[in-house]
Amino acid sequence: MTQAVTLTREQVAFEPASMADPHGRVFRWEGGLYRAINSDIAPIYRRLLEDPRCTRLFDIGLIDTGIADIELQGAGLVLRHRELPRVTYGFEWCAPMLLDAAKLTIDLAIELDTMGFELLDAHPWNVLFEGPTPHFIDFGSFVPAKPGTPWRGQGEFIKTFINPLFLLVRGHAEPARRQMADFNRWGVTDRELVGIVGRKQRLARYWQSLTMLPGAVEPRTSALIKLRDYLDRVELPEPTTQWSDYYNEHVCLEDRAAWTGKHVVADEVLRRVEPRTVLDLAANAGWFSMLAAQHGCTVVATDNDETCLAHLYRQAKEQRLDILTVSQDFTRPTPPHGPNEVFPDAFARLNADLVFALAITHHLVFKAGMDFKQIARTLDGFTGKTLLVEFIPKEDRHVALWYTDAYRWYTLNNFKAALAPYFNRITVHPSNREPRVMLCCERSASVAAAA
Ligand SMILES: C[S@@+](CC[C@H](N)C(=O)[O-])C[C@H]1O[C@@H](n2cnc3c(N)ncnc32)[C@H](O)[C@@H]1O
Repeated sequence: MTQAVTLTREQVAFEPASMADPHGRVFRWEGGLYRAINSDIAPIYRRLLEDPRCTRLFDIGLIDTGIADIELQGAGLVLRHRELPRVTYGFEWCAPMLLDAAKLTIDLAIELDTMGFELLDAHPWNVLFEGPTPHFIDFGSFVPAKPGTPWRGQGEFIKTFINPLFLLVRGHAEPARRQMADFNRWGVTDRELVGIVGRKQRLARYWQSLTMLPGAVEPRTSALIKLRDYLDRVELPEPTTQWSDYYNEHVCLEDRAAWTGKHVVADEVLRRVEPRTVLDLAANAGWFSMLAAQHGCTVVATDNDETCLAHLYRQAKEQRLDILTVSQDFTRPTPPHGPNEVFPDAFARLNADLVFALAITHHLVFKAGMDFKQIARTLDGFTGKTLLVEFIPKEDRHVALWYTDAYRWYTLNNFKAALAPYFNRITVHPSNREPRVMLCCERSASVAAAA
């Protein structure tokens, strides 16, 4: 038998975001992701992982985890986890994603309950999506349950999943996301829910359907079952929004004969650049995201329209496409957050080899008040190698309605000049109709390194 390698704490890189875990620390070593487990709980975790019932936890969505063949100074056990390619946060998910993440969390809690364990940390920061599939990533939240005690995760689960979900499906996405993104608030309390919804009476039916009064202490198993039943009854409306009908105008992805110049150019760029990762900014129904997924790319699709995101998430789930939908306003990419800003910003997490920014620049200028320099800087922040951005000149019938002399600077040449500091090769291609054009912006390795 080979001897396990023993590492010192200096040899590994601890993950700053796992500082709060009472049972150990996550660390990286030689490209792998590991979890050092404290000696007091190590034998319990070893038994749990060796229990055949543990496969049920993996079937539900616990991230692939096994006992590692390395040791770390001072740790009782080292686990190895499969690392997921992208980190997104609960406040960046659309309602069906938050619902699926909540179901995964509660299903794990129920299964653990049958095994004599309790899920201590029941919040969205412990779930990551891989395309449209949620995984639970925090093995350190599993603790032996004390018989006859209530579920210690209940309050947190309601505050970080159930109440925000209630707000998202009732058209209060903005305050729900704001509260969740504020690390000091960490979700929406029952009292804050009353403040946002306006009248307590409006919440009576919600609490009735939850079959739990605010702050009520329930026996653990019954609380878990009630919360799961509630999640089964959550309805997800897809209200008509400014952008929800836009996808009805799109040509079928399989019908190549109907493709316009815009579709052909995107396809050619995908073929030529062969990106591993693609970011489709303002993706709407995700025609270009789906094209990239068909090319075998790992895709992130962003938009700030709730209905569009929910629609695309469902499509990705049904068709098993490697597309991760993320709520993101182009004018305000998610900043770093958390204690000491341990949770990285959107640029660090979502940047991709190839970025699509199609039919969005004119909205950012005329509706969101951005100038070309701001747009170019943001696009640069997301782009690894290549950017395909559409420009819609003032002669276009939509833009003509918004254009005034105050926007004299809104020209193709000025847009190219704003992009030029970041991309040393910019070529112009046709789009779906004149006078719209597509700019393929590329940078050499030296520009990329300097950026
Ligand atoms: C004209 S559609 C373009 C869809 C797709 N990129 C295409 O070219 O077919 C514009 C999309 O931009 C989104 N959008 C508008 N302003 C946005 C913003 N500030 N942040 C993120 N998305 C935005 C809308 O929700 C809509 O889905």
